[in-house]
Amino acid sequence: MPRPRNLYRVLAALAALAAILVSVISVVSEPQPTSASTETSTPAERAGDSNALAERGRYLALAANCASCHSRPGGAPFSGGVAFETPVGTIYSSNITPDAEHGIGKWTLQDLRRALHEGISAKGYRLFPAFPYTSFTKITDQDVSAIYAYLRTVTADTYSPPTNGILFEQRWAMAIWNRLFFRPGRFVPDPTRPAQWNTGAYLVEALGHCDACHTPRNSFMAEVEARAYQGGSISERVDGEKMRLWSAVNLTSSPSGLKAWSEADLAKYFHAGFSLRGGTFGPMNEVIANSTSQLTDSDVHAMAAYIKSLPQGEAAGTPVTAESVAAGAAIYHERCEKCHGSSGRGGMFMGPPLAGSAVVQAEDPASLINAVLYGAAPPKGTSLGAWETMRPYADVLSDSQAADVANYVRGTWGNHASRVDAAMVGKQR
Ligand code: HEC
Ligand code: HEC
Ligand code: HEC
Repeated sequence: MPRPRNLYRVLAALAALAAILVSVISVVSEPQPTSASTETSTPAERAGDSNALAERGRYLALAANCASCHSRPGGAPFSGGVAFETPVGTIYSSNITPDAEHGIGKWTLQDLRRALHEGISAKGYRLFPAFPYTSFTKITDQDVSAIYAYLRTVTADTYSPPTNGILFEQRWAMAIWNRLFFRPGRFVPDPTRPAQWNTGAYLVEALGHCDACHTPRNSFMAEVEARAYQGGSISERVDGEKMRLWSAVNLTSSPSGLKAWSEADLAKYFHAGFSLRGGTFGPMNEVIANSTSQLTDSDVHAMAAYIKSLPQGEAAGTPVTAESVAAGAAIYHERCEKCHGSSGRGGMFMGPPLAGSAVVQAEDPASLINAVLYGAAPPKGTSLGAWETMRPYADVLSDSQAADVANYVRGTWGNHASRVDAAMVGKQR
């Protein structure tokens, strides 16, 4: 029997990994057909209604990025088996196709609601937060109906995901975690805000579960609400091999966050994978490729408006000293300047600005270190990203050189962030 402490570690790791493949939603509250109108409609009209409902569900599933987590490469869509690796074992996503035995074909609408809103499977047990029910609890009943209608239209598949690691049989532990940290409840629009803001809030908070990666977590892996969206740390398995640490940037408009980004920059980034302020790489690639790039113009603008309205906040760290900054100047000049510029302002077709960059100034430098060691590139095989890619420097820079150049960009051009040391780079190599 694992000790409770280990269980919490499991939960933590899972929660972080849940974040791995996530994304966002939409909204237009189209009135659903009432049962009265259905009764008086013709069969053709009823079929039209249910097609429209399933079509809306398809869009909502994109916004919620169900596919990134439930469609494994080479497998039937939504048949599960995507592995979420944790230091204590592997957990696999479920088959959510309409197959009666292996999928959720026997599930009622109420069953799906209970799973998304409460984290409880129709099989009676508690689900782990690798499945982001902590955000999905905010999805409206009407939208769950649409997702349900859509999932019934996908091809049933008999695939059975592999058995989870033994520790994941300890599902009772989730009852305790839920009691402490989970607040079930639907999204409540704020009547004092414009409709666009409410649409954006719903997409970001409920469907997109952006907080799963971008909000810091406490030692039980629960999100710290007082610091919502101020930047989180996650880990992701890379190329089926190593776990790699990442930091998901501060999304608030504080100086080390998205202060430099306009609403239009954000909307462009969600659709195209880049803007004049930055480009996508790492775990954000799937979010953009599988989800936000496929949402409507008005929905990505609504998300951008909501994100620009988040209360600002950032950690008060000790800024890197002038001496540490100076140590990396020569390396920057030799290796980075041609694309990011001597002023750190970057340039179209060269590279994004590093001056004012949230990736560069993140409290947790993990993503900056990854960019230097492993390069930065948008998703392979997509048209996302206006730039070429940035090459890896792991082979040409030692840990202390990589730390030096990181410190240079963290403390130049008005950037403020804490010092990176060689050991931090070594841990990520
Ligand atoms: C699986 C984890 C994960 C999820 C889910 C996620 N992000 Fe990110 N996000 C990251 C990471 C890691 C980065 C830093 C790497 C990068 O810039 O591509 C990032 C970067 C960003 C950036 C800024 C990039 C920059 O260059 O400064 C924005 C804006 C952003 N995310 C918005 C969102 C929104 C909105 C959502 C929800 C729809 C979301 N993210 C969901 C992990 C995630
Ligand atoms: C971040 C990854 C992630 C996303 C996004 C995600 N899921 Fe899952 N889902 C999982 C994992 C992992 C499990 C298995 C959890 C467990 O076994 O405790 C799961 C389990 C489920 C289950 C329970 C199945 C069962 O047999 O008990 C349902 C239903 C489900 N997901 C539906 C959805 C739908 C619908 C969406 C999109 C709205 C979605 N999921 C999005 C990761 C995800
Ligand atoms: C050949 C041009 C080139 C060189 C040289 C280069 N980069 Fe980059 N860099 C890029 C491009 C292009 C991106 C955006 C990639 C993407 O969007 O996927 C990028 C992204 C980044 C990012 C992420 C910025 C953000 O806000 O999203 C950082 C940090 C970074 N580079 C730092 C460096 C450092 C430090 C060096 C020198 C060690 C360097 N780069 C050298 C082209 C370059």
